[in-house]
Amino acid sequence: MQPESLMMSYGYKPELSEGAIKSPIFQTSTFVFKRAEEGKAFFEVAYGLRAKNEGEELGLIYSRINNPDLEILENRLCLWDEAEECAVFASGMSAITTVLFEFLKPGDLLLTSMPLYGGSDHFTEKILPKFGIHTLSFRANQRPEEIIALVEKSGMADNLAMVYIETPANPTNDLVDIAGSKAIARYFSRKDKTVLVAVDNTYMGPVWQHPLKHGADLVLYSATKYIGGHSDVIAGACLGSAELIKRVKGLRTFLGNMAGPWTGWLLMRSLETLKMRMDIQAFNAERIAAYLNQHPKIEKVYYPGNLTEADGEAYHIRQRQCLSNGGMISFDLKGGEKEAFIFLNALKLIKLAVSLGSTESLAEHPATMTHADVEPEHKQALSITEKMIRLSVGVENYIDIIGDIDQAMSQIPLSTTRSSLMPDLQSV
Ligand SMILES: Cc1ncc(COP(=O)(O)O)c(C=O)c1O
Repeated sequence: MQPESLMMSYGYKPELSEGAIKSPIFQTSTFVFKRAEEGKAFFEVAYGLRAKNEGEELGLIYSRINNPDLEILENRLCLWDEAEECAVFASGMSAITTVLFEFLKPGDLLLTSMPLYGGSDHFTEKILPKFGIHTLSFRANQRPEEIIALVEKSGMADNLAMVYIETPANPTNDLVDIAGSKAIARYFSRKDKTVLVAVDNTYMGPVWQHPLKHGADLVLYSATKYIGGHSDVIAGACLGSAELIKRVKGLRTFLGNMAGPWTGWLLMRSLETLKMRMDIQAFNAERIAAYLNQHPKIEKVYYPGNLTEADGEAYHIRQRQCLSNGGMISFDLKGGEKEAFIFLNALKLIKLAVSLGSTESLAEHPATMTHADVEPEHKQALSITEKMIRLSVGVENYIDIIGDIDQAMSQIPLSTTRSSLMPDLQSV
């Protein structure tokens, strides 16, 4: 069966909860052991003091270690990515930072793609160096041979421990080759050291891209985005092999940054509609991109659906690894911050807010908001300039979304352009 058919029931046994069709919210900090021997056995497994016996499940102990709402949610998330195991977190950032801390140590080198979400950029550029962990970055359009040469030239090739990529990248929709990243990781792996590949898959969500199938070792999500999808919860997730997720969950236990049961329950509710929400968002995005592509006040549209063979490798990466063009579009207005702010302030239906993947359409200004903290020269080089707007397409009727963009565009005073493009809507 397809994952969307199982999101209502998978991993939940009504007979254990008075027949309730939905999983209750297990709003409890701790779980009662039947006997002291049982508590001892549960802790032995939880703390890795012994391997599980044949058929033994980890019993419920304490909600920082495990909780039914999180466990059912983790089992359901595994279906989309065909992962062995999943760990759910209090935020996307806690999933990302826990993975980086678990698999990196002082002296290690982390290789990252550029751009990254502003929070991830801050953590890798400004926090990891405090722990003696070095970061080296490459551009999405660099070929694997060039990236290998970059690592070798750094003099730290022996210390490379992880390749961390975000694809499509926030906010430019740059595509990074997952299989190519794995080839780089393999090149620098040794008998005693496996270089891991971690992929932030937030932009495509679990429906539109499956990094594990392309060779990634770990997949990361801000579950705040499409997985949650209603702008009412902050959460994160990490998926991969049982062996790696055991380590991730081990550090999660001691950092205490797991999600709570209420968050778990909300995310399970959201997962029931994940596929249909994302299908509509992608359908709407395609029409909105078509409208933006022909707008005279727009200089450039960043949308995977615009890629053609003329774009070379980026086009082939999309064909290989993306199942959709997604629901995120960025565009450069003709002008700068002034024009961008006029547009944002004039929006009525689309909300002026950061975050993405929600049911409502959202617009923001990456250069001064989500990516405000990125080094100015990086911002410039990566096209995160003052004229860029990032749009997260929601589930509203696309004609209404385009109508809102159109009226906001008409507020930008550009003498050479028509005041409204609404009549052209018929052709979109
Ligand atoms: C691509 C990406 N990764 C990670 C995060 C961080 O997620 P959270 O805000 O849930 O901590 C975000 C947040 O915007 C994001 O866009």
